[in-house]
Amino acid sequence: MPRVLITGANRGIGYEFTKQYAGTGSSIIACCRDTTGESSEDLRNLSKKNNKISIEKMDLLDHDSINLISNKYVGIPIDIIINNAGILGPIPIEDNLSAGHFGTISYENWENVIKTNTFAPIKIAESFIDNIKLGREKKIITLSSTVASFQESTVPSFCYCTSKTAVTKAVQLLAEVLKGDEIISMAFCPGHVMTRMGWSGATVKPEDSVNGMRSIIENLTIADTASFKRYNGETIAW
Ligand SMILES: NC(=O)c1ccc[n+]([C@@H]2O[C@H](COP(=O)([O-])OP(=O)(O)OC[C@H]3O[C@@H](n4cnc5c(N)ncnc54)[C@H](OP(=O)(O)O)[C@@H]3O)[C@@H](O)[C@H]2O)c1
Repeated sequence: MPRVLITGANRGIGYEFTKQYAGTGSSIIACCRDTTGESSEDLRNLSKKNNKISIEKMDLLDHDSINLISNKYVGIPIDIIINNAGILGPIPIEDNLSAGHFGTISYENWENVIKTNTFAPIKIAESFIDNIKLGREKKIITLSSTVASFQESTVPSFCYCTSKTAVTKAVQLLAEVLKGDEIISMAFCPGHVMTRMGWSGATVKPEDSVNGMRSIIENLTIADTASFKRYNGETIAW
C-alpha cells in the first residue's frame, strides 16, 4: 500500500483524501497547521481509529515547519504527494471577497495567497523529492482549479486565479525537470466542491470529487505528466 503525504489534511478535500486513502490501508502523513485545536478534531479522531495516520504540524507559510517535517522523514519512501492545502483569501470567505477584486485588492492578501497556493506546493516538492524518488509510485499531485485557465474561466478574483495559473505552470515545469526520474507531476481541478472554500453554489460532494481523483491517480503513467485534469478525468483546456 502506498505512503501518501497530504497537506491541509484536517478539513475539506484534504480530509476526504486522508479518509479514503486510510480506508484502503495506505500510510498517511497528514499535515495541517493546527494539530491540537478544533479544526483538526475530526482528523485526530480518525487517527485514533487508524494507526497508519501520522499527523504532522506544518504551516505552509512557514518553510521552517516544512523543513522540520522533511528532516523527520529522511530516507523514508513516499509514493504520492497531494498538494491540497490552499486559500481563496481571508476567512470568512463571504465577508472578504473584495480583497481579491479590482479596486479593493488587498496586496497583503495577494501575497499570502501566492505564498500558500503557488510557492508551497513547489517547496513541498523540493523538500520531499528524495522521498518520492525512493517511492514506487512517484506521483506529485497538485490541486489547482479551472480558474487557472485562460480559456475556461474568468472569475474576477485576482489573487486566487493568478495563484492557480502560476502553480499550474509550475506543475508543468516540475514535470519537465522530473521526467528523467520517471516522476509524474500533474494538476487537478476538484470541481466546485462542498467545503469551506466552495462555500456558495457548490454541487460536488467531497467524497465524489476525491473518489474520482483517486481512481485517476491510481492509473496515471508518465504519459500523463504535466496534464491538467478535472476530477472526472476530462482534460482542462488552459
Ligand atoms: N472547494 C472547491 O470548490 C475548490 C475548487 C477548485 C479548487 N479547489 C482547491 O482544492 C484545495 C482544497 O480546497 P478545499 O475546498 O478543501 O478548501 P478548505 O475547505 O478551505 O480547506 C483548505 C485547507 O487548506 C489548509 N491551509 C490553508 N492555508 C494553510 C497553511 N498556510 N498551512 C497549512 N494548511 C493550510 C486549511 O487549513 P486550516 O483548516 O487550518 O485553515 C485547510 O485544511 C485547494 O487548493 C483549493 O484551491 C477547491
